[in-house]
Amino acid sequence: MKLHKIPYGKHNITDEDIEEVVKVLKSDWLTQGPNIKLFEEAFASYVGAKFAIAVSNGTAALHLNALALNVKPGDKVITTPITFVASANCIRYCGGEVVFADIDPETYLLDIESVRRILVKDYKKEIKGIIPVNFAGRVVDMEAYRELANEFGCWIIEDACHSPGGYFYNKSGEKIFSGSGKYADLSIFSFHPVKHIAAGEGGMITTNDEKLYNILLNLRTHGIQQDPSKKHENHGLWYYEMQTLGFNYRLTDFQAALGLSQLIRANDGLKRRIEIANRYTKAFSDLSYIKHFSGDIEGHAYHLYILQVENRQELFNYLREKNIFAQVHYIPAHLMPYYKDLGWRLGDMPFAEKYYERCISIPIFPSLLDEEQDFVINTIKQFYADK
Ligand SMILES: Cc1ncc(COP(=O)(O)O)c(C=O)c1O
Repeated sequence: MKLHKIPYGKHNITDEDIEEVVKVLKSDWLTQGPNIKLFEEAFASYVGAKFAIAVSNGTAALHLNALALNVKPGDKVITTPITFVASANCIRYCGGEVVFADIDPETYLLDIESVRRILVKDYKKEIKGIIPVNFAGRVVDMEAYRELANEFGCWIIEDACHSPGGYFYNKSGEKIFSGSGKYADLSIFSFHPVKHIAAGEGGMITTNDEKLYNILLNLRTHGIQQDPSKKHENHGLWYYEMQTLGFNYRLTDFQAALGLSQLIRANDGLKRRIEIANRYTKAFSDLSYIKHFSGDIEGHAYHLYILQVENRQELFNYLREKNIFAQVHYIPAHLMPYYKDLGWRLGDMPFAEKYYERCISIPIFPSLLDEEQDFVINTIKQFYADK
């Protein structure tokens, strides 16, 4: 069967999405306008948080979070090496130090026991926060992290870029959605095209903390406040004041309209991702060359479906020849030349490094057709049958 290129992830734009964007393009607003508020309110309600702040991308969201939580030179923050580098970089933007902790080889998430071991040895109390990542869409047990963070006086940023709509159950059996603000101080999302909700570029911060919310609103727009009641002598209604050093991390109104239109379909997309994941799980159970796979996990948002395999590189190349564009998520962040220059070494994170040797992300996105998925499954099986 000759098929077109099948990527590992892909956005899905409908005619309704296009109409919503065009409406904004014909309106008076291009940068922040009425759609920002609508998108923020709808998103907050989707994840069950009190507040949401739309920003220009997920990296900007992380940077603003680190600023709002007052990360300063000398402060240390723990995160996972198996993530997109932005999860760690936001600490460096503020002059802080990144402390990587290893992953749990079963879940691929930041291992809470490794984090605890680091915190216990932090005699100088330099560690200020923890950034767990809902890697691939699997939601971290944030209740457990909250308890740990409270014990050591740390804040938590939940990197939820991979998990809109994902959830875990807390000890009382309550379903806790990623980004709900129940346990993390702040959560962040990305609307990069391969994510569940695509806005070209875009990001969202969610929180239940009104104080942090107000700080973030200020930082998003140059630290500028426009409160006419504060006007001084010789100032008129034009008065604004810059209270702190902020940024221009605004989202445009047409991106917000696209995000909002996509958000309305987010649960359908999630449902389809789960169907695809279940089909993969069924197809790859009990095969000796598959060492581990994402599996059927309740609450998993399946941004990625990951296999751990023998001969990963050969398989990757074979799939490319067949027009299947699998990917690898991620090269461990501590092995990036930038972090190696800061002293991190191969061998520092044994589970993350072992995981990286064997992982491959195979296509999963809502518009993937069953026949395309069958082609992916059969091509992988064929590769190992020929070995
Ligand atoms: C886990 C994670 N964190 C942060 C980001 C950064 O988001 P953005 O690309 O919107 O800046 C991404 C996006 O790739 C991501 O996957």
